[in-house]
Amino acid sequence: MKSAIRGTLVSFKDNPFHTDKSQFLYHESDGIIVMENGKITDMGPASELLVRLDPAVELTHYKNALIMPGFIDCHVHYPQTEIIGAYGEQLIDWLNKYTFVAEQKFGDKSHAELTATLFLKEALANGTTTASVFCTVEPTSVDAFFEQSVKAGMRNIAGKVLMDRNAPPELLDTAQTGYDQTKALIEKWHGKDRCLYSVTPRFAPTSTPEQMEMTGAVWKEHPGTYLQSHISENKGEIEWVKELYPSSKDYLDVYDSFGHLGPRSILGHGVHLSESEFTRFSETGTAISHCPTSNFFLGSGLFNLKSAVASERAVRVGLATDLGAGTSFSMLATMGEAYKVSQLRSSPITAWQAFYLATRGAAEALYLEDKIGSLQTGHEADLVVLDLKATELLDHRLNFADDLHEELFVLMTLAPSEAIAATYIAGELAASRNQTTNRMEFAKF
Ligand code: GUN
Ligand code: ZN
Repeated sequence: MKSAIRGTLVSFKDNPFHTDKSQFLYHESDGIIVMENGKITDMGPASELLVRLDPAVELTHYKNALIMPGFIDCHVHYPQTEIIGAYGEQLIDWLNKYTFVAEQKFGDKSHAELTATLFLKEALANGTTTASVFCTVEPTSVDAFFEQSVKAGMRNIAGKVLMDRNAPPELLDTAQTGYDQTKALIEKWHGKDRCLYSVTPRFAPTSTPEQMEMTGAVWKEHPGTYLQSHISENKGEIEWVKELYPSSKDYLDVYDSFGHLGPRSILGHGVHLSESEFTRFSETGTAISHCPTSNFFLGSGLFNLKSAVASERAVRVGLATDLGAGTSFSMLATMGEAYKVSQLRSSPITAWQAFYLATRGAAEALYLEDKIGSLQTGHEADLVVLDLKATELLDHRLNFADDLHEELFVLMTLAPSEAIAATYIAGELAASRNQTTNRMEFAKF
């Protein structure tokens, strides 16, 4: 069905880390987006669109609102929804004490389904329209996730976690079963509707060299699939990787030596990477997901975004929640935390840069910029509508905002959940705020 929405349109045409506003910003203070068959079929200033738009087309006018491309979460663990806010530990102890306990429940399809549904509703309620998702070692956890993702009509990336050592026996596969299950899941899900498969070795310490080898092989055998893992999140983890892979030059070299780097490989965190590792990321087209709330919560450290994106050898970086070590489903809140990390590193990012990392930049990190992440005719119509009067405080504060940059910066700083007025998936209203109850309502769940 053809429909259209009207409001202030904001999107990125280029990279605000490397270009100036005249080049990177698309801003239409009163614009219209026309959507049909899942795509944006026309867009531009309302004054022009109203002339050529068939009056029979349903047009929803969002007043005092920004319409943006839906947010993209480059790294998140849906099975960890039930352990958000688990107290006190840093990475390895947190994994053992909380994560590996929770993940053992996902062989139970109904538990996986319930969690996947809640997870996707929360994503939509926060304006997130695409995520790169870790499931658990159980293929059931992947089936449950993709089944719900298809129901929602979302473009999501996900995969079965591969682990054949250093985790409870209930969570281990073997190099061979991990390979076989991954292959079967790729055949079942990759390219079905909007689903994309990601080969998902958890991280170097939980895979034997044999599994790392077979992981690289199965990824290579299926062009177009993704690979996701973790890297250099925590200092203790890095020391452990040195012990487990003594012949590797550094952490990244472990993945490199097993053929895990390249376009569509996304490694989470990268808090303690060296200059030569950043260079190798750049050379291979491998992306980093920046997980600020998680890095704060687990006390992992401050990601060096400025260095990662340095123009001489820019690395593709996308923003990520990394739930359940991350603390919020909200990409607005995650942008706010990314700003605080950059402040602590004495190189504050702009609101342009933060929103880019959650939209077009994230799409570039996932090599999906031809489909999602910006407002463009021909792109998939995944959108978020941000209500600038959502709360009394937001409304009051924005009365004192001078320009769009300030509006965006206040949105990411206050990050009120009520600011998400609506989320569109493939041109259809997927989540919208009930003006009476103020709660989100979902079209498919
Ligand atoms: N490193 C390996 N597994 C995980 C995980 O589940 N979460 C985080 N934050 N880091 C990891
Ligand atoms: Zn993670």
